[in-house]
Amino acid sequence: MKKALSVLLALLMTASFVYAVVGGGDVQFEPKSAGKVTFSHDTHVGMGKQCMDCHDSIYVTKTKHNKVSMAEMGKGQSCGVCHNGKQAFTVKGNCKTCHKN
Ligand code: HEC
Ligand code: HEC
Ligand code: HEC
Repeated sequence: MKKALSVLLALLMTASFVYAVVGGGDVQFEPKSAGKVTFSHDTHVGMGKQCMDCHDSIYVTKTKHNKVSMAEMGKGQSCGVCHNGKQAFTVKGNCKTCHKN
């Protein structure tokens, strides 16, 4: 009984740790020449994207951020892997859906 409880507690703690990472996972980009962009883990994971869809092939961490230009995104890098008008709204428009002032 005691053992089952500690296993359950361990599971709950792991789950809430993972959730805290995802839930706390708003990532801000502040390009100098355009408005701030907030990337939401909540919405992307909530719509069924898997961690592996983005990690580590496209993104690692904020400190290991690989900076890309809009031109590179338009050619399919970073957000442009999906935001290409097929899987999701394109980076060749919809500026204000991502950039807020
Ligand atoms: C749609 C793409 C996408 C998906 C899916 C995704 N992430 Fe991320 N993740 C990002 C981006 C973008 C960053 C910021 C990295 C950067 O600045 O280059 C990031 C950063 C992170 C970081 C580092 C945060 C920091 O402070 O440096 C962690 C941890 C993380 N993600 C965990 C996860 C986990 C766990 C999952 C699955 C539940 C997940 N991510 C799913 C795109 C994604
Ligand atoms: C899917 C979200 C998204 C859309 C749509 C988008 N952007 Fe961006 N943009 C970003 C992100 C994220 C960055 C920061 C990239 C980085 O630092 O790696 C960025 C960076 C930039 C930059 C600085 C880098 C550069 O290329 O000079 C400019 C300027 C910019 N965006 C303009 C635009 C314009 C104009 C549009 C509409 C035609 C647009 N963006 C559409 C997400 C988006
Ligand atoms: C693995 C694929 C994938 C990647 C990579 C990705 N997105 Fe998305 N994103 C989606 C899909 C799918 C949707 C929902 C479909 C739509 O709205 O066209 C979406 C929706 C969004 C939305 C609207 C919902 C919300 O969260 O407000 C924003 C804003 C957004 N993405 C920003 C970004 C930015 C910024 C990046 C890059 C840092 C990025 N996305 C990278 C797949 C992706």
